[in-house]
Amino acid sequence: MSAHQPTPNQSSPAEPSSAAGAGDRIIIFDTTLRDGEQSPGASMTVGEKLRIAEVLEQMGVDVIEAGFAIASDGDFRAVNEIAKKVKDSVVCSLSRASKRDIERAAEALEPAAQKRIHTFIATSPLHMRVKLQMTPDAVHQAVIDSVSHARNLTDDVEWSCEDGSRSEHDFLCRCIESAIDCGATTINIPDTVGYAHPEEFADLIRMIRNRVPNIDKAIVSVHCHNDLGLGVANSLRAIQAGARQVECTINGIGERAGNAAMEEIVMALKTRHDLLPYPTRIVTQHIIRASRLVSAITGFAVQPNKAIVGANAFQHEAGIHQDGMLKDAGTYEIMRPEDVGLVRSNLVMGKHSGRHAFRQKLKELGYELGDNALAEAFARFKALADKKKEIFDEDLIALVDDEIQTTDQRIKVVDLAVQCGSRPKSQARIVLEMDGAERTADAQGDGPVDATFNAIKQLVPHTARLALFQIHAVTEGTDAQAEVTVRLEEEGKTVNGQGAETDTILASARAYVMALNKLLVKREKTAPAALSA
Ligand code: KIV
Ligand code: ZN
Repeated sequence: MSAHQPTPNQSSPAEPSSAAGAGDRIIIFDTTLRDGEQSPGASMTVGEKLRIAEVLEQMGVDVIEAGFAIASDGDFRAVNEIAKKVKDSVVCSLSRASKRDIERAAEALEPAAQKRIHTFIATSPLHMRVKLQMTPDAVHQAVIDSVSHARNLTDDVEWSCEDGSRSEHDFLCRCIESAIDCGATTINIPDTVGYAHPEEFADLIRMIRNRVPNIDKAIVSVHCHNDLGLGVANSLRAIQAGARQVECTINGIGERAGNAAMEEIVMALKTRHDLLPYPTRIVTQHIIRASRLVSAITGFAVQPNKAIVGANAFQHEAGIHQDGMLKDAGTYEIMRPEDVGLVRSNLVMGKHSGRHAFRQKLKELGYELGDNALAEAFARFKALADKKKEIFDEDLIALVDDEIQTTDQRIKVVDLAVQCGSRPKSQARIVLEMDGAERTADAQGDGPVDATFNAIKQLVPHTARLALFQIHAVTEGTDAQAEVTVRLEEEGKTVNGQGAETDTILASARAYVMALNKLLVKREKTAPAALSA
């Protein structure tokens, strides 16, 4: 193997992504907007989901799971809006094995150029007995009924056996065979609880391919959770065993420890094409951009040492490494940073930088903003440059993330004035824009943050508990931007908000308001029960 040799990763986009026979090309099914949004603390507005879907489409994602249409009006609208907008990817909605779910999914997907209904039911003894309280025969009948119903509404039907990796093989094969007989074109095998080990999971895929008589009529897919940190390894072994679709998320977000990370799967296939000769359609140069957008929208920071997209993934600290890099980048880099969309440049930003340089710099950092968002971000950049001598990349990232997060929020901070110091109580006056109308409140508190939060609470009454309040300086120096994280908990629902400003109290107000906006989205969602027939 030699690093830095170009490897073919692109195959003909004309290949069908939803039928059996896609050859060795791997269908990338992205579930950032569905499983990813189920991450504790994450929630996205319809507008935010649309923006991510657009980037996924541009990246060449084959199937975008846009949501769980029955879960809430917000989910329905997100699936529906994405279905209207996205043309080059199949748009998919999840549904339980119930008529109402499937019909709601079909309704939301109605405008899509290419649509898929993804219906699932658990097949493991534990889930059937305890969660569903259904006999295996009843579950088998539900598979037949749900897939047949979905297939009456669309040609592209995916069926998943939830907790598939802990299901009994005979029963699993029986359900898969029936699902295919009833018209399922993709059979997804989830490792729902991230329990499988790579060899064992590959054996499961091989067993299914050997024993299910009609398996050649469907694409075998896998959906691996990361509870043991094996999501990507399990997905890659499954591909070697014959799976041709992988379900994954940007930055690996998802339920509990998350899902297999798309960027890791795609770059493992591309970089080790010698061992894994399975192309994808992903335009890898969009990876950093997608990662940044998802991180900004969810408020989930990417750990610095995260493979592919972490801030350190292409940094070299040790002298010996730096020396090697200067001689030949292949000594310590197995991938080219530009292949994931990282551009190294010395474009230094400051007070006198113009809009063009600003746009260029953002592009290099992985951001592409629409005209309005760019104009607002540029105005904030100019204001920041007036306050702060040196503008580092980290400053721009914090500023743009903050801009992305606030774009379509129902509640926005308009103004804040605070009096604090050695007096017994601090005083805050906040002006918020709430659904288009400006409202003002005054409050006192023990310190400026407490006073500010009390004022916000007057305008947005709630019972959520402040579970985390954290301040982090984006760069060095007393003029550094403060990045504040606020976590709120309300009736088992967790949301995170972030704000970045040179003024720590204003950053705190923005973080608190962002968390409240996320709470409004979360409140709309009623967690669907295991099954409602
Ligand atoms: O993890 C899981 O089993 C799922 C299914 C709904 C596919 O997310
Ligand atoms: Zn899942």
